[in-house]
Amino acid sequence: MSSVSVNTSSHSGARLNRPCSVLFVCLGNICRSPTAHGVFEYKLKQQGLESQVTVDSAGTSDFHIGGPPDQRSTLAAKKRGYDLSQLRARQACYEDFNRFDYILAMDESNLHDLKDIAPDNSRATLRLFLDFSEGEALREVPDPYYGGAGGFDRVLDLIERASEGLLKEIRQKYGS
Ligand code: 4NP
Repeated sequence: MSSVSVNTSSHSGARLNRPCSVLFVCLGNICRSPTAHGVFEYKLKQQGLESQVTVDSAGTSDFHIGGPPDQRSTLAAKKRGYDLSQLRARQACYEDFNRFDYILAMDESNLHDLKDIAPDNSRATLRLFLDFSEGEALREVPDPYYGGAGGFDRVLDLIERASEGLLKEIRQKYGS
């Protein structure tokens, strides 16, 4: 988990009625899902909800297990005040479906791979993350790994917006 210092002046004070947990998933767990992890944790802290909502991220692949986020993601996130430096990649697994309330995939390919390993009695709601982004035409967070620096800012824009929608959903479903 990252440790970030945030301005909590926008704190709503509203609490949830019960805890909730979210797992963000992409292919490598070094670009998109750690970015979502860091951004969403930051927003939870701003709202004073960090002790009630557990956040984690994982990859569908085993390519980068144990590794830090891609430096380009870390740098782009840092410029907006998010600290990804403490996060380490892991692979999504069968048990995650009983540990998390939401498993949110960055693209259709990730979603397909997750459906393949999901148990029949999964606790988790499995969706595309951008489903929570209000008014967003895109369904997938584009993979920035093989592109230029602009791709990482685009990922942040999409993730910041979808995070607001996800927070709203969690407040509605788990709030008082
Ligand atoms: P991510 O990006 O799925 O957003 O972490 C990628 C990271 C690594 C690779 C592909 C995508 N790779 O092929 O190693």
